[in-house]
Amino acid sequence: LSRAMEFRFDLNELFKQPIVEVGNTLIPPGFTGDKRALWDVQSKMSQIVNAIGEASAHAQGLSKPITTADRLRNSEYKLYLLMDPTANNGKGAVTGMLKTGTKGLYVFDRNGQHYQVSPQCVLDFYIHESRQRTGLGRRLFEHMLQRQQIEPEKMAIDRPSDKFLGFLSKHYGLNAPVKQMNNYVVYDGFFPKTHETP
Ligand code: ACO
Repeated sequence: LSRAMEFRFDLNELFKQPIVEVGNTLIPPGFTGDKRALWDVQSKMSQIVNAIGEASAHAQGLSKPITTADRLRNSEYKLYLLMDPTANNGKGAVTGMLKTGTKGLYVFDRNGQHYQVSPQCVLDFYIHESRQRTGLGRRLFEHMLQRQQIEPEKMAIDRPSDKFLGFLSKHYGLNAPVKQMNNYVVYDGFFPKTHETP
């Protein structure tokens, strides 16, 4: 785990930008080619997703990955992959991932008021050990917020680690998480504003 995720194939041929977004097709944006090329790209993308999913699970102390190519194929999730194009002698290396998706949830605010909502959720987030705390997580997270046109406090977070809670506090001033029974966490700004009645 001393270096970022490297593969035998050239990542720069697969990824046209340092952050790529993939969904259930496992096809990176900008792909062109025939059926065989498509199959090849999907097979490489599966290897990448499985490898980074496993590394993320390991980093979070989970017994099995929550992100796999198979699960992504059968989902409406968005997976953002971050890569360093210059690593591995110019073949590139994958340095992080962030997975989001919409979930139907039942959440409680601090006063015990409950809401049935379908928020966008942060489901899996990982930066390679060799690159953590260098600002890459923030870069990837900001990209996602832009793409999804959302404020961080409007997202629900599935089982956040202490590192991620620290990350949200540091970069977005989000403190005092409201922990839910379903292991999700939200912040006060998540709930619709209610007017105080005197
Ligand atoms: N200990 C405590 N806080 C940390 C740590 C750490 N080891 N690493 C990052 N942070 C927090 C701190 O607030 C830190 O600021 P500081 O260095 O001034 O204290 C801040 O994140 C740094 O910001 P970035 O450099 O942009 O963050 P990074 O690139 O490290 O990405 C991430 C953050 C994704 C949480 C990364 O540290 C990581 O992959 N950790 C291991 C896996 C993990 O915990 N993932 C989140 C699981 S929860 C979920 O996925 C829904």
